[in-house]
Amino acid sequence: MTRQLLVTSALPYANGPIHIGHLVEYVQTDIYVRFQRLRGHRVAYMCADDTHGAAIMIRAQKEGRTPEDFIAEMAESHQRDFAAFGMSFDHYGSTNSPANYEQCKHVWAALRAADLVVARNVERLYDPVQKTFLADRFVKGKCPNCGAEDQYGDSCEKCGATYAATDLIEPRSVHSGATPELRESRQLFVRLEPLQPFLQEWTKAGTLQPEVMNYLHGNFLAKPLQDWDVSRPAPYFGFEIPDEAGQFWYVWFDAPIGYIASTAEWCAQNGQQLDDWWRNPECEIVHFLGKDITYFHTLFWPAMLKTAGFELPKKVQIHGFLRVNGEKMSKSRGTFVMARSYLDQELDPGCLRYYYASKLSPGIDDLDFNTDEFVGKCNSDLVGRVVNLASRSAKFVKNVGLSATYPEDGDLFANAAECGDRIAAAYEACDYREAMRLCMTLADAANEFVEQRAPWTLKKDPDRAQELQDVCTVVLNLFRQIAIYLTPVLPDLSQQAGELLQSPIESWDQSRTPLTGTAVSKFKHMMQRVDADKVAALFTAPATDAATDAATDAATDAVANAAPAAAGPSPTLAKEPLADQITIDDFLKVDLRIAKVLAAEEVPEARKLLRLTLGLGGGETRNVFAGIKGKYDAASLVGRQVVMVANLAPRKMKFGLSEGMVVAAGTDGGVFLVSPDEGAEAGQRLH
Ligand code: 2FM
Ligand code: ZN
Repeated sequence: MTRQLLVTSALPYANGPIHIGHLVEYVQTDIYVRFQRLRGHRVAYMCADDTHGAAIMIRAQKEGRTPEDFIAEMAESHQRDFAAFGMSFDHYGSTNSPANYEQCKHVWAALRAADLVVARNVERLYDPVQKTFLADRFVKGKCPNCGAEDQYGDSCEKCGATYAATDLIEPRSVHSGATPELRESRQLFVRLEPLQPFLQEWTKAGTLQPEVMNYLHGNFLAKPLQDWDVSRPAPYFGFEIPDEAGQFWYVWFDAPIGYIASTAEWCAQNGQQLDDWWRNPECEIVHFLGKDITYFHTLFWPAMLKTAGFELPKKVQIHGFLRVNGEKMSKSRGTFVMARSYLDQELDPGCLRYYYASKLSPGIDDLDFNTDEFVGKCNSDLVGRVVNLASRSAKFVKNVGLSATYPEDGDLFANAAECGDRIAAAYEACDYREAMRLCMTLADAANEFVEQRAPWTLKKDPDRAQELQDVCTVVLNLFRQIAIYLTPVLPDLSQQAGELLQSPIESWDQSRTPLTGTAVSKFKHMMQRVDADKVAALFTAPATDAATDAATDAATDAVANAAPAAAGPSPTLAKEPLADQITIDDFLKVDLRIAKVLAAEEVPEARKLLRLTLGLGGGETRNVFAGIKGKYDAASLVGRQVVMVANLAPRKMKFGLSEGMVVAAGTDGGVFLVSPDEGAEAGQRLH
C-alpha cells in the first residue's frame, strides 16, 4: 500500500551558519525521506529558516543591517550547505513569509475562539542598554539553588534546578552585560491546562520514543500545565499580533507553524491541496528534532494543531546532541565545525552521511564524532568493503557484460534479498546503525566470494572466460544490492552504481531481481579515501583567547540551542597516545602495497643488499635496496609478490636511490619476506 508522509526537520535558526551538529538531524531526516521514496511512498519533505526573535534583531543591529537583509543572506548560506550535503527538501521556506503570517493568524484565531488566550501583566527582565526584554537564555547569573556562577536564566547546568530568570542572583544581560531591570509588561498567554487530558493521552499513543514519554510525564504532565507566554513586546523581529498592537508572537509560536506554511507554498507551486497533507488522517506527519526542543514539539505544538483542526504528528523522532571526541562541541576547542569548512577541505559529504548513519540509533543518546573512527569507517567500510566489490570485478566484464542467466552463487543473492526486509525495518525504525551493520555483513559475504573465486586468476586462463563472467556477474549484482540498500544514505554512490550497470536505481524492489545479460560501463572511480590530515585540519582549535571564545560559545548556544558548550578554559583536543600505541591515523599514513619483483640483482659492493625493481601495477616501478642477500637468491625472487612501503621518503644510498622498503620479518634466525596470498594484484593497497 502506498503511504503518504509529510516529513520535517526542525527549522534552523537564521542567526548563524549550519554546523556539523545541525547536520546530524538533516542527515537523519533525509535518509528517512529518501528511504520512503525508494519504497515507492509519496513524501513531502518540508523545511524553512526560522527567522524571528530578539537574537536575530540584535545581531542585525550590531552589523548595521536590517533583519530582512541579514536573514536573506543566511537563507542562501543554509540552502547552499544543505544542497551540498544532499538534503532533498521538496520545499525550503522562511518563517518570515506571507504564507506563515496567514497560517499564524489562522492558528491564533482558533486559539482565541477556543478561549485559550488570556492577558496578564507580568514583571520581566529588561536590558536597559539594548532596550529589549530578555528571554531566559539571554540572562546569566548565579544559580539560586546551588550558587553556581554563570548559569542561564532557566536552569542550572550544575545542579539541574529549574527556575525563573528573575530568581537568578546577580543577573546580567548576555547581550550587553548590563544588570537587567524589572519592568512590567502586558503579556498574552495560551492556557494549556484545558488541553491537558488530550496531551496526557496523545503523549502515550506510541508517537513518542519511550524515554521522551517518560520525560514529559515525569517533568510536565504530572502537575497542571502552566500557561504559555506567547507574546513579546516591541521591539521584536517577528509578526505583530493582529488583535494586540505593539505585541509580537514569540518566535516559538510562529516557528513550527512554518512547517505548515512551507507546505502551503509548495502546494501552491505544485498543484497540491494543503488539507490533503495537514488535514488528512491518511497522511503521516513525521517530525525530526533535537532533544533540547522536545517540549515545544510535544506539548505546545500538538496543542496548537489540535485546536486549529490540523492532524497530529504520527511520529516525533528525537535525537541527541553531537559531541566531538567525547566532549561537547566548542569553538574554543575547535570542534564547532561548520558544514562549509568540511566542504572547503574537499571532504566527501557522503562520508559524513554514512558516518552519521552508522552511529544513529532510534534513541535520544548523544552521538560522538570520533575523528579516528570517522576516517577508519569511511575508508574501510565504504572504500574497502563496498566500492572495492565493483572495482575488483567490473573491469573484467566491461566488454562482455553480465552473464545471460544468473549463475549459481551459493544463495548469496537470495539471502541478501531476504536481508532487505530487515534492513528496511531498521530504516523505518530510524535504527540506521543496524541498517548499516547489516549492509556491511552483506559486503563481507560478497568480498569473501570474490576472494574465493579470484577473478584476477580466472582472467589469466582464456578457457575460463565463462566462469570469469559468471563470477563478476555475481559480484556486481551483490554490489548493486548493497548500493540499493545504501541509496538513502549515499545517493551519489547509488547513482554511480546505476551508471556502471546501466540500470538506474529507482526502487527498493530492484534488490530482489538480479541483472542479467546487460552491458557494464567502464568502471569510474566512486569514492575517495578520507585523508586523515584533512579531518585533523577541520578540528584544529583556533589560536584565539579561550575565555572570549567560551563566551561566544555560550551566546551561540543560547540562541542556537545546539549542544551547550562548556565555558571557561578548555582542555586541548589532542589526546597523548600511549607510547606503545599508534592511532589508526598513524597507521593509515603508511602506504603498504602489493608489489611484484620484476628484476633482482646483487649489489656486489654490499654484503647484504639486493637491488629490486618492483612493479606496482599500471606500469609504475620502484627501485628498492633490500638487506636480504644471503637469505634469498636474486633470481628466485623474480615474479614473486611482496609487500612494500610505497610512501617512504626516498633515501640516497651509496649505490643509488632507494624508493621504498620491502616488508620482512627479521629475527636472529634470519629474514623472512612477507608475501600476500594468491590472488593479490600488484598495486593493491593494504588496509
Ligand atoms: O532550536 C532551533 O534551532 C529552532 N530554530 C527550531 C525550530 S523548529 C520549528 F518549530 F520551527
Ligand atoms: Zn545550581
